[in-house]
Amino acid sequence: MGGAGKSRILVIGGTRGVGLLIARLLHERGYTVRVLARDPAGVSNKLGPTFEVVAGDLTKEDTLPPALRDVDHIIFTAGAPSGRYAPESLVRATDYDGVIDTLAAARSAGFHGRFVYLNTIGIETRSLAGFLINLLKRNTLVWRRRVEDKIRSSGLDYTIIRVGFLLDRPGGEHAINVSQGALPLAFRNRIARADVADAFVEAMEHPRASRTTFEIVWGSGPRQQSWSRLFERLRPD
Ligand SMILES: NC(=O)c1ccc[n+]([C@@H]2O[C@H](COP(=O)([O-])OP(=O)(O)OC[C@H]3O[C@@H](n4cnc5c(N)ncnc54)[C@H](OP(=O)(O)O)[C@@H]3O)[C@@H](O)[C@H]2O)c1
Repeated sequence: MGGAGKSRILVIGGTRGVGLLIARLLHERGYTVRVLARDPAGVSNKLGPTFEVVAGDLTKEDTLPPALRDVDHIIFTAGAPSGRYAPESLVRATDYDGVIDTLAAARSAGFHGRFVYLNTIGIETRSLAGFLINLLKRNTLVWRRRVEDKIRSSGLDYTIIRVGFLLDRPGGEHAINVSQGALPLAFRNRIARADVADAFVEAMEHPRASRTTFEIVWGSGPRQQSWSRLFERLRPD
């Protein structure tokens, strides 16, 4: 266990976007938070001295072991850059090899916690949005589908959370649909980054989320059920 009795959590992708929200939420809840950073000085400035910032790059596997030392759980939200062109070599290096190298480094470090992985909906269902995303970030949905099998067969405890289109909107305002099918990528299947951050922190230690794959998007109407309640119905893979 890290820190003053609470676990130490490594957030890979914790420098921006939903990963940064997760890192801040974990910190607020008293966890010791370690963030993997390609730009450690800049990230330390952004997060302040009470976060652990460890230098590392997913595309350079020998930089990963120091970040994996003595961590209780790993949250992985990193991915090839959104919204701009990425060649397949970079997509594969980040979205596929980067995950596999992290799993290997975790096993070598004697990791016994849970690997909580952010994936996107739409990896199993064809859609126009999926076609366009695969054109921009070359075949990202193909590599992200393949990497799920590697996580499931890694021998580590895991939770795979596939999220809808991400919005920078407040959390807690909309009902959440938790499902275990294969939603298509479409704007109607969307969710706030703040809600996703909450889901990750709640799922990380929820017993029913162990060895599960599920999808989260906004439902209709206001939020009524707690995450814990929503996770009670999950079926293991
Ligand atoms: N946008 C959507 O609607 C949508 C929908 C579903 C899923 N997703 C996925 O959700 C995740 C979070 O998205 P977001 O928009 O909130 O965040 P984001 O801005 O895409 O953040 C990506 C994160 O990955 C890190 N990263 C990228 N390459 C790395 C490398 N080689 N080594 C270490 N870290 C690396 C970045 O670190 P740096 O700060 O160093 O760049 C950053 O922390 C992404 O994986 C994205 O693909 C997005």
